[in-house]
This record gives sequence, structure tokens and C-alpha cells, in this order.
Amino acid sequence: MTANPLAPGWLRHPDDANALAAAVWPRNAARTASGVVTLAGAPAVELAAQFGTPLYVVDEDDALSRATDVLTAFQGAFTAIGSTAHVYYAGKAFLSTEIARWMVAAGLNIDICSGGELAVALAADVDPARLGFHGNNKSLAEIDRGVAAGVGAIVLDSVVEIGRVAAAAERHGRVQPVRLRINSGVHASTHEFLATAHEDQKFGVPLTEAAAAVALIRAQPSLRFLGLHSHIGSQIFESDGFAEAARRLLRVHAELLTGGDVPELNLGGGFGIAYTSADEVTPIATIAQDLARVVAAECAALGIPVPGIAVEPGRAIIGPSTVTLYEIGTVKDVEVPLPEAVPTGSAASTAVRKYVSVDGGMSDNIRAALYQADYSVRLANRSSDAAAALIRLAGKHCESGDIVVRADYLPGDVEPGDLAAVPATGAYCWSLASNYNYLGRPAVVAVKDGAARVIVRRETEADLLGRDMGAPGLGAEVISELGRDAGADGRPGRGDAPE
Ligand SMILES: Cc1ncc(COP(=O)(O)O)c(C=O)c1O
Repeated sequence: MTANPLAPGWLRHPDDANALAAAVWPRNAARTASGVVTLAGAPAVELAAQFGTPLYVVDEDDALSRATDVLTAFQGAFTAIGSTAHVYYAGKAFLSTEIARWMVAAGLNIDICSGGELAVALAADVDPARLGFHGNNKSLAEIDRGVAAGVGAIVLDSVVEIGRVAAAAERHGRVQPVRLRINSGVHASTHEFLATAHEDQKFGVPLTEAAAAVALIRAQPSLRFLGLHSHIGSQIFESDGFAEAARRLLRVHAELLTGGDVPELNLGGGFGIAYTSADEVTPIATIAQDLARVVAAECAALGIPVPGIAVEPGRAIIGPSTVTLYEIGTVKDVEVPLPEAVPTGSAASTAVRKYVSVDGGMSDNIRAALYQADYSVRLANRSSDAAAALIRLAGKHCESGDIVVRADYLPGDVEPGDLAAVPATGAYCWSLASNYNYLGRPAVVAVKDGAARVIVRRETEADLLGRDMGAPGLGAEVISELGRDAGADGRPGRGDAPE
């Protein structure tokens, strides 16, 4: 079998285009003898028939076990150096009340970064003391609501927020614990990290301004300073970037100790996962041990006690837990001219890329369009011995960039009506979903021990039209039922105003 010359360099021609790579699929995924993919014991064909497609299917035990793995890894590594570790699940990756409850059950805290995410966590009855509230531009109403709810920490992203949070805390008669987000000048992406004096991005306060900002925080009786925070990027495979950020922050942390208590250091999230079988992921336990070693050495060199450590992974916990199921609608062979640089081994000047179009696309997974992210795909309703063909899994939206899987091999007899399954879609897919072309957002189904239950229902046309004031019998009626609180003028209703 020869590889298709249009295939990217990292994509190997598969020995078996039906195989489910263990690193990419949820821990409880399998293919039965009859060829059907099962997710936590639930056959994909039955899930699609019962709940429709596209469908996000979350393996509950997979998500829970990864949450536990991260907690165990960090607690183990940092207890061994005489410290403690807390893990915040980054809700921005994928948050629903059910997922919030799983994370709390696993012993994690939750990182939120908007009033909406706060509302979900509170609706899930998460103890507000377990919430860390992020955001580079929290509104006054969001700050007020977070303080009033009693969130465990607010991460201050700029100096102007110090006064805003202090005033809200005073209003509510509280002493609000806060962290200060630092722009460490370390930026990591996947296999590389850059350490510069200044990183050109919107988050945080430069290291050089940290001491002055902390002095301002400490001058506010309604604030309690917890420590510094840094988040250096996402989908990072190596520990070097985290280690460099930890070293930089600890030097400032040591200076701050001369002015008072600094109980913790938060190193953010960003641990990478495998989206394709070419991705080689560093085990979370190795990252935790590497970081503990670096933190212990740096603290010893600075002559300071090791602070409590916190991390905030989202993707590494929820990313691999989820598979998106789609129904294939059309299959097209497109003859593509080969770029001159591509060595074909033959005189051919074109090659065929099979465009396989599904019933979702960039509205349920925008990451390929947004970040040129790579994913993989398998047929879920059957296996096949047909020779593998290079495919591109496209969506149904009116954009040529509407691609879910840029390149993978599927059995060449793939046809309309087949079910496609795209693994590793738990992080930043549902949470970044849109209604482009008026597609309703798909349902989310949790699977466990062969049983499936809807944890977020599919959006209906009534949902889509419900805010359209000109839609007869829908938008207008909803408004008249709910009155002014529904925000008939398009602005938040009375229910959104701070008390
Ligand atoms: C402040 C902060 N913490 C944590 C995360 C989670 O990152 P990841 O899902 O890559 O672990 C992010 C992601 O953007 C973030 O901005």
C-alpha cells in the first residue's frame, strides 16, 4: 500500500483503517466482532438512532479517571516535596452542570471565566469556595456576582481590577481571596516554548510590575492575596515551558514573601493530548514530577518554603473522553493537482482526495478552521477490508474551510449513510459551538456501563427562533410571556443586575 502524496508528512498509511488508536480514543471505546464501535458499552449505531446526529458522546468514567489521574499525579509529586497540590478543572473546555458535578466528585475545584460559567457551576450546586474566577475583562456585574456568591478566589488580570474587586468585597462585607495573573514572558505551543522579556498578549500583569500590584492588593483590607498565577498556553507536550514559568514566578514570589504571606502558586493548564496517532503525549505523572523537581530546586536555591501548588487543566481531563458521531451524507473523489515539491514516485501530476461530508461541521467543531487542528476519524457502524483511502471529513456549512478532519485514511468503500466517529472532541468543541447556518447545537450524551443519558439536549428550531423578535408565534410570544426581565430591548433584564 502506498501513501497518498496529498497526505501530510505526519500521517502514516494505516495497516488497518478500522483500528482505534488507544491514545486517541476514550478508555472504554472498542469495536465489536461485527465491526460496530462501542463507547462505554453503548453501540454507536444505537446512540445515533436514539439521539440523532451529530452527537457528542462523553465517556463518563474516562473523564472521571483522567480527573483522578491529574489529581493523584500532582498531589503525589508535590506531597513528596513537602507541599500540597490543588487541581482546578478549566470549565471553558466543556462545562455543563453534570460535568461540573463529576469534577467535584473527583475532588477537583473548578475554574470559571464568565458570569455564565459561574451560573452553571452554581446551578450544579458546586460549593462556591471551590471556584476560581478568571477573565481579562470581567464586568462589574460579574465581579459583584462572584463576590456575592463567595467564590474561593478571583484571579486579578490587571491593576484596574484590584479596586473593582475590593469595592465589591467591601459592599458585601467580605474579605475576597485573590490571585494575580502574571504575563511571564513564556509562551509555549505544543513542542516548543519561547521565553521572552515581554509576551505580546492581553492576559496578566508583567513580572516587572507584579510587586507594585501586590502592594496595592495588600493595601486593600477587603482583599487577601493568595499568590501568583501563570498560564503559558495550551496543547503543550513538554514540561520545559511550565518549568521556566515556575522559575520566573518563584523569583518574584520570594520577593513578595518579605511583605507578607504568599500561600500558593498557580501554574495554569495547557497539558497536551493526542488528537491523532502521531501525537506523542508526555504522561501527566511525568509532567507533575518534572515540575515538582524544578519547584523544589528553585525554592531551595531561593531559601524559601515550597508554596502550595495549583494547576488548571481542561483539555487533558475532558478532551479524550468525547467522541462526535456524524452521519455521512455525500462522498466525492476530488482530483487534486500535486504541488511540484511533492515526490510522487510516479509521473502522476494529480492525486485523489476523497471528500466525505457529514451532517455537522465547523458549528460543532471549529478547531480545524480556527487553529488548523488535526483530528482523526473512523467508521463507527462497520469495519471494512477495503483498501484505505485518504479522506477529508468536511462539514455541511457554506465555507470551504468547514473541515472537521483535515486528513486521515478510511476504508475506500466509505459511503453515504455510514456513521463517522471523530475522537478527542471533548475540549473546546461543544464550548466553542455556534449556530452558523442556523444549525442547532448537538445534544451531549453521557455513556457509562452500556447506558446512555442526555446531559444537554439538542437545540431545536424553536430555540433558534426563540430570540428572533420577528418570528411569529415564537420570539414575540416568549418575550410577552416573560415580560421585561427577558430583555425585550436586547439588553440584560432586571435579573442580571447586581443586587
Ligand atoms: C487561565 C487558563 N487556565 C486554564 C486553561 C486550560 O487550558 P487547557 O484546557 O489547555 O488545559 C486555559 C485555557 O485557555 C486558561 O486560559
